[in-house]
Amino acid sequence: MSDIEKVCKFLEESGTYYLATVDGDQPRVRPFGTVMVYEGKLYIQTGKVKPVSHQLSANPKAEICAFKDGKWLRVSGELINDDRLEVKTAMLEKYPSLRAMYSPEDDNTQVLYFRNGNAVFSSFTAAPETVTF
Ligand SMILES: Cc1cc2nc3c(=O)[nH]c(=O)nc-3n(C[C@H](O)[C@H](O)[C@H](O)COP(=O)(O)O)c2cc1C
Repeated sequence: MSDIEKVCKFLEESGTYYLATVDGDQPRVRPFGTVMVYEGKLYIQTGKVKPVSHQLSANPKAEICAFKDGKWLRVSGELINDDRLEVKTAMLEKYPSLRAMYSPEDDNTQVLYFRNGNAVFSSFTAAPETVTF
């Protein structure tokens, strides 16, 4: 399994992760769940109408934190918009429940991938493990 697949699997198995963005000088954080590897990049999904999306277009810097089985993961980098229909379609195929709210062709569905990604797996019992992608 590649490093990025390990990051994706940890986020999937955590079920919920927390996504932090920058809003002026105020950090904002919220629960997220969508995650997918596509063409070797780590993608998440949101709606363009949400404040999180506006924050990321003003400042793409973001960080994710998730916790599972005594280990935690932090992923930092920049979240970059990708408007390709095929990526949105792949995301909605992975999360069919989103189809009630989103479709690849609407003006709202947004997928973003990490650029300059840095992921650190940590625990109280082992040295941190860092991967970049
Ligand atoms: C468990 C859980 C998972 C969620 N996953 C997502 C997600 O993947 N994408 C998304 O846009 N919103 C997701 N949400 C909803 C967001 O947390 C919610 O819309 C939040 O208000 C967005 O942040 P904002 O108000 O700063 O834009 C999820 C909510 C919960 C409780």
